[in-house]
Amino acid sequence: MRIRTFDEYQLAYQKSVDDPEEFWAEIAQEFQWRKPWTKTLQWNFTEPNIKWFVGGKLNITENCLDRHLATKGDQPAIIWEPNDPNEAGATLTYRMLHDQVCRFANVLKRNGVVKGDRVCIYMPMVPELAIAVLACARIGAVHSVVFGGFSAQSIADRINDAQCKVVITADGAYRGNKEIPLKSTVDDALIGCPGVQRVIVLTRTRTPVSMLKGRDVWWEQELKQVTAECPAEEMDAEDMLFILYTSGSTGKPKGVVHTCGGYMVYAAYTFQNVFQYEPDQVHFCTADIGWITGHSYIVYGPLACGATSLLFEGTPTYPDNGRFWDITDKHKVNILYTAPTAIRSLMGFGLDKVTNHDLSSLQVLGSVGEPINEEAWHWYDDNIGKNRCPIVDTWWQTETGGILISPLAGITKTKPTFATLPLPGVQPILVDETGKEIEGNGVSGNLCIKFPWPGILRTTYGDHERCRQTYFATYPGLYFTGDGCLRDEEGYYRITGRVDDVLNVSGHRIGTAEVENAINMHTGVVESAVVGYPHDIKGQGIYAYVITDQQPTDHDADLTKRDILATVSRVIGPIAKPDKIQFVTGLPKTRSGKIMRRILRKIAEGDTGNLGDTSTLLDPAVVDEIKAGAL
Ligand code: WT7
Repeated sequence: MRIRTFDEYQLAYQKSVDDPEEFWAEIAQEFQWRKPWTKTLQWNFTEPNIKWFVGGKLNITENCLDRHLATKGDQPAIIWEPNDPNEAGATLTYRMLHDQVCRFANVLKRNGVVKGDRVCIYMPMVPELAIAVLACARIGAVHSVVFGGFSAQSIADRINDAQCKVVITADGAYRGNKEIPLKSTVDDALIGCPGVQRVIVLTRTRTPVSMLKGRDVWWEQELKQVTAECPAEEMDAEDMLFILYTSGSTGKPKGVVHTCGGYMVYAAYTFQNVFQYEPDQVHFCTADIGWITGHSYIVYGPLACGATSLLFEGTPTYPDNGRFWDITDKHKVNILYTAPTAIRSLMGFGLDKVTNHDLSSLQVLGSVGEPINEEAWHWYDDNIGKNRCPIVDTWWQTETGGILISPLAGITKTKPTFATLPLPGVQPILVDETGKEIEGNGVSGNLCIKFPWPGILRTTYGDHERCRQTYFATYPGLYFTGDGCLRDEEGYYRITGRVDDVLNVSGHRIGTAEVENAINMHTGVVESAVVGYPHDIKGQGIYAYVITDQQPTDHDADLTKRDILATVSRVIGPIAKPDKIQFVTGLPKTRSGKIMRRILRKIAEGDTGNLGDTSTLLDPAVVDEIKAGAL
C-alpha cells in the first residue's frame, strides 16, 4: 500500500487505471476481513449504484483498534490537548482506546441502540467524541456527527432527516474563552424531534443542565453499568458507516452516506500515502470531527494505520495566537494538517509567537478545505516548515471520503496553489458547460471524476434521487464535483473554487440558498439574495442583499442588520452569518424572474466597472441603485 518514490507513484497510478479492481483488491487485503469479498467492484454512475468489496464482511473498529493491540497496544492512539493549556491533557494508548470504545459501545447497547440505528453526536473536541464515533461503528450503528457550531434548528433538521433515535452530547464545550451550552441547545432541538428516545450527556464544563427523567442519562453513570467486553458487530462492506450533512446549492443540507469497507480502505490508503506517515510520528489535524476532515484524518485514517493522532479541543488563537506552535512544540508534532483560513489569520499576527517555539519536529505540512493563496502558501512554507517540510495541498470533499488530488509528501514536486496530481485510483476529467471533455494541458473547466474510487459517497440519506441529480446528472456518466479547475502545462491541477451556489467561508461549506432561507425567515424581509466575495482571511465572505417591506432609516438599518444576524445564527448557526448586509429595493432579475447572481457577485467584489450584459434585465435601473449603495 505504501508508495515511496515518484516512480512508484507513476506505476501505482498506471495500474489503478489499467486494472482498478486488482489495484484496490491488493490494498484491501492488507486489512482484517471477517469474510473476503466475492467481487471487488460493481458500479454504474447512472443510477448511481456503487459497491466495493461486494460480500466482504468486516468491522472498521477491529481494523482501527483490535488489529493493533498485539503490536501497538501501548502506543498512543490519541493525544488530547485541552482548550486550556493549563488543564491536564490525556494520552490514550490503543489498548485504552479499545477498552473505552468497547465500554461505551455497551452503553449504547444498554440504551437500546442496535445495528442500523442512527445516532446523532453533538460534542466538543474531547476524546469521548472519538470514542462515541467508534462505539457506534463497533455495534453497527450509523453515526451522524453534527458540528458544535450549528444551531438547535440545524440539529433538529439533521436528527429528523436521519431519524436518529439517540443523541450523544455534553453539558457544554470550551472554545477559546467561550463556554458553549451544548446540552441546552440539544434540549431546544429536541422540542422538534419526537423520535429521540435517549440523550447521553458527557460531563465537560459541569454547567447546570436540565436532565429529563426517562430520556436523559449521564455518560459517566452509564459507564458504571457495563463491562469492557464488546465483540464487534459483523458488517457488510456496503453497510452504512456514517452520515455527514453538507451544504449544496439547494436550501436543505444533504446527508452524505459512506459505507464500511470502501471508506476504510480509502481513508487509510490516502492517510498513509499523502502524509507519508512513519511509525511513532505524531499527526495533528486541526479540523473538528464535525467535518469530514476530522472523520477521515483524525479518527479513521490514522487509527486504521496504527498512527498517533492529536485531538485539539480549542482554537488557534487561545490563549494567544501561538497555540498551534505551542502544541507542535509540546507534543513534538511531525505532521500538521490545517486550513488556509487558519494560516491567513495567524499570518496577520506576525512572527513573535512563531519564533519563540521549537518547530523542528515538523516534517510534513498539509492544507485543506479551500484554495490556498500564494502568500499563505509561502508564509506556511517559510515560517512554519522553514523550507524543509513538503506542503501537501489536499483537494477533496465530504462526498469523496478522502483526498483525491494532492502531492505525496516529499515525493511529488509541489507548486504553490496547486493540488498537483490525482492519487492512484482517481481519474479526473475537465469538461465544458456542455459536458464535452477538455483534453490536453494548459486548460480549465469543470472538474469531474470518471471512475469510482472506494471512498465515493453511495447515496444521500433518504433521497437517492437527490444524489443522482446533484452529482451524476449534470454530466451523464461522470461524478461532478461542483468545482472549477485548471490543468497547467505540466498536467498539474489547481482547484479554482465552486462553480455552483456553494460558498466556502473559512473552509466551511455553506449554501447561498440556505442563508437566503434563513434571512427570509426574519420578520419584514421580503426577499434576499446571497453571494460570496473575496475575503482576506475567510477566503470568502457572505454578502447579502435584502429587501424589506419598509425601507429602514439609518438607525433602524443597523438594528435590523443585527436582528437578521441573530435570525441566521438561530436558524443555521453563527458560521453562516453574513459579513455584509445591503438593503435594496429590488434585485436584478431576468424577465423570467431569475436573479442574476453574476451581477450581484461583481458588485460584492467591488468590480462594478464591467457588469457585462444587463439588457435582459427586467428593470436595469435597479442595478444602479445597488451599485450606489454597495458596501
Ligand atoms: C469543497 C469541499 C475536503 C475536506 C474539507 C472540505 C473546497 C477543499 C480544497 C483544496 C481548493 C478545496 C472545494 C470542495 N476544497 N479542499 N485543497 N483546494 N479547494 O470539505 O466541506 O465537503 O468542501 O472545499 O471547493 O468542493 P467540504
